[in-house]
Amino acid sequence: MNIRKEPGLTFDDVLLVPKRSPLRSRQDANTSTTLLPGINLAIPILSANMDTVTESEMAIAMARLGGMGVIHRFMPIERQVSEVRRVKRAENLIVEEPYTIPPDVTVAEAQQKMVEWGSGGLLVTDAEHHLLGVLTPRDILFEDNPERPIHELMTPRERVVTGSPGTTMEDARQILHEARVEKLPLVTTDNRVVGLITATDIVKRQKHPQATKDEKGRLRVGAAVGVKIGELERIRALIEADVDVIVLDIAHGHSDHALDIIQTIRREFGDTVKMIAGNVASAAGVRDLVEVGADAVKVGVGPGSICITRLVTGFGVPQLTAISECAEAARQYNIPIIADGGIRTSGDLTKALAAGAQTVMIGSLFAGTQESPGRIVQRKGRRYKISRGMASLGATMSRQDNSDLDWNQIVPEGVEAMVPYRGNVSEIIQQLVGGLRSGMSYAGAQTIPELQENAEFMPITGAGLQESKPHDVELL
Ligand code: XMP
Repeated sequence: MNIRKEPGLTFDDVLLVPKRSPLRSRQDANTSTTLLPGINLAIPILSANMDTVTESEMAIAMARLGGMGVIHRFMPIERQVSEVRRVKRAENLIVEEPYTIPPDVTVAEAQQKMVEWGSGGLLVTDAEHHLLGVLTPRDILFEDNPERPIHELMTPRERVVTGSPGTTMEDARQILHEARVEKLPLVTTDNRVVGLITATDIVKRQKHPQATKDEKGRLRVGAAVGVKIGELERIRALIEADVDVIVLDIAHGHSDHALDIIQTIRREFGDTVKMIAGNVASAAGVRDLVEVGADAVKVGVGPGSICITRLVTGFGVPQLTAISECAEAARQYNIPIIADGGIRTSGDLTKALAAGAQTVMIGSLFAGTQESPGRIVQRKGRRYKISRGMASLGATMSRQDNSDLDWNQIVPEGVEAMVPYRGNVSEIIQQLVGGLRSGMSYAGAQTIPELQENAEFMPITGAGLQESKPHDVELL
């Protein structure tokens, strides 16, 4: 029998030994990290590509907080693309194609457009995109004649404050402040509209200084894809929608299937596409995925809260050992790893990073938030949301391509569960990152690489674990 001498360890099997710390405050800890070469995050956290965790609302919240969300793949291509587009449009440095209307539309038509587009003001242009004026809701609020053409009510061009195409955010802020207006159309020297900067977008940027953004100032987002042949079409559509990262999502990522598709993606789309591949739980898995072109590797076979892969198949590696062995292999290629699954507390987060991960992916802990898909359910006076494994019976049966599948043929590797409703995801992130900062201070580490360098793990006994939790008291 081929059997290892040392048992595999997971989060509860170890503690980190405190070290002398130069940090005077938790705020001195810098939580920034590398998701993959070319994309950095202010906080080392991703929301999982599960249908009870990440669609556009979660992805927008995660990116604003400095992490990133990965939109799940269990929806038609067009819907996944539109979820990605919603994230990319949520914040702009410059609105490149602002909504415009012609000068002869009526007040009633303009009102309808404002509602339809959810826009507080519209640029009025001619057919060649020349700026003729700006119409705001205030201009038409008390107009009694719905048939009146809006050019009689708009602020005419000579009174509209504009910027040039190269206007920076700082310039725009100054101009908007001095003119006391909320929209700054950007026009060329021959008065053609080429963009728009709005006060709302500037305020959003100030509110989320740590947000994860691309070079155009848009929030970053990932999207999961599978390995079947038809998935190339999905990948192409996602790339056209400017997705930042493709996440190859397959339970046993160390497979010929996965290696083939990574090579195909590299052949078809080149090196510019950023790609995370997984999941694996061994050094050999990391090496094989990196050798064919993965930019980062997702680690975790069976540690997730809703996973039963280990029970059903007998396979898996306790997560801390998996992280440590995979990280060692990835270091040789200078490739980051993502510890996926099993994170319950900020202590687990700190241990996962200290063991060598650059980021973690979290599922169920975020499934109970306002931003996750799905409704709140009431049970015995308490509020819950659903978290389900993507290989659970319910999730498998609900997939479009499985509608004529016989239930008995399905061998689920995940469960469906309820998790307490926990409010906004920002509150959970605040607790996780606050705990991580404290942990970094105990490690004497100002940065995540220092946390990894200074980490000394001590295996503990059942008594040590019991001592680590509240004990011999009645909890209130
Ligand atoms: P947590 O513990 O954060 O874990 O809820 C989330 C991760 O669990 C994985 N996942 C599954 N694993 N069967 C599995 O064995 C499943 O049905 C399943 N669904 C999700 C996935 O890696 C996710 O990010």
